[in-house]
Amino acid sequence: MNNADIDWKTLPFGYVPTDCNLRCTYRDGKWGEIEVSTSTTIDIHIAATALHYGQEAFEGLKAFRGVDGKIRIFRLEANAERMRQSAEGILMEPVPEHIFREMCIRAVKLNERFVPPYGSGASLYIRPLEIGVTARVGVKPADEYTFIVLVTPVGPYFKGGFKCTNYCITRKYDRVAPCGTGRWKIGGNYAASLAAGEHAHEMGYSAVLYLDPKEKLYLDECGPANFIAIKDGKYITPKSDSILPSITNRSLMQIARDMGLEVEQRHIPVEELAECSEAAAVGTAAVASPVGRIDDLDNGVQYVISKDGKPGPIVTELYNRLNAIRLGEAPDTYGWNTIID
Ligand code: PLP
Ligand code: COI
Repeated sequence: MNNADIDWKTLPFGYVPTDCNLRCTYRDGKWGEIEVSTSTTIDIHIAATALHYGQEAFEGLKAFRGVDGKIRIFRLEANAERMRQSAEGILMEPVPEHIFREMCIRAVKLNERFVPPYGSGASLYIRPLEIGVTARVGVKPADEYTFIVLVTPVGPYFKGGFKCTNYCITRKYDRVAPCGTGRWKIGGNYAASLAAGEHAHEMGYSAVLYLDPKEKLYLDECGPANFIAIKDGKYITPKSDSILPSITNRSLMQIARDMGLEVEQRHIPVEELAECSEAAAVGTAAVASPVGRIDDLDNGVQYVISKDGKPGPIVTELYNRLNAIRLGEAPDTYGWNTIID
């Protein structure tokens, strides 16, 4: 039963309280029972490693109400695997795939009334997170970990939904270091991006398009999303060790190949933006958010990607095909959906 109090069509990307969340703790060398909680707070030690030394990793995935009324979670296994990699990257105990899976599925089922209706454009965002909870004063990994899955209904990440917005380039900030933590989804990377992100928002940009932190010559990614562009009819996207391996990007690369496009994952020099006819920020939250213009704030160069201010045909097609798979309107050829029954 849907919650009548929510206006699904105008829902922003924000936190809306739901009925419950799930928790599981790793203690004495093993994961414990999964607990269902109606509390929105946690009680942890004031010296927990998560609080002092940033031992925290998270994921983001979505559940959709399909054309047939069924609920589908998109790419559950891929997110479980990336969560494992992020946890290992910062020496946390990885959450076994079966626990990740069970907790995501149960969190969706128990909050079914918050899954937005088909056609609303909204979805149920699933946010799994793991934190180190052992008290430490020296810099060392925890022995105990808590894994939580919360869900909340969301609308579009960038203002206006599927509309062109602008991005900026600046060499004054890095999100991550060259041999650092960029390929993991850990809280510290986002803390490091807050100042640059807020600065960009104040100037009217959706996000910063970061350059590679070593040479600052190549495109990296867009704050909370990967970057893709269309050049001479080809799908191009940065290859970099300092970006998050986006599951949406990986899915779109497959969809692009299925559309007959050539896909290139490689270094993309900043100046190549001048030759791109379309571009988008791609990710779970961003989906495929079309790019209008990219301003290089350090030299005043403006890369106008969309000449008429509208999303281009290829990005539009990619967006539509991705949504059709997630909503059960098109065949799920690659087994990306987990149907909840
Ligand atoms: N890059 C960053 C930094 C992100 O936070 C996200 C969001 O998860 C992405 C890229 C996109 O990844 P995905 O498509 O797996 O959501
Ligand atoms: C996502 O797309 O799931 C993200 O985590 C990006 C952002 C909200 C941090």
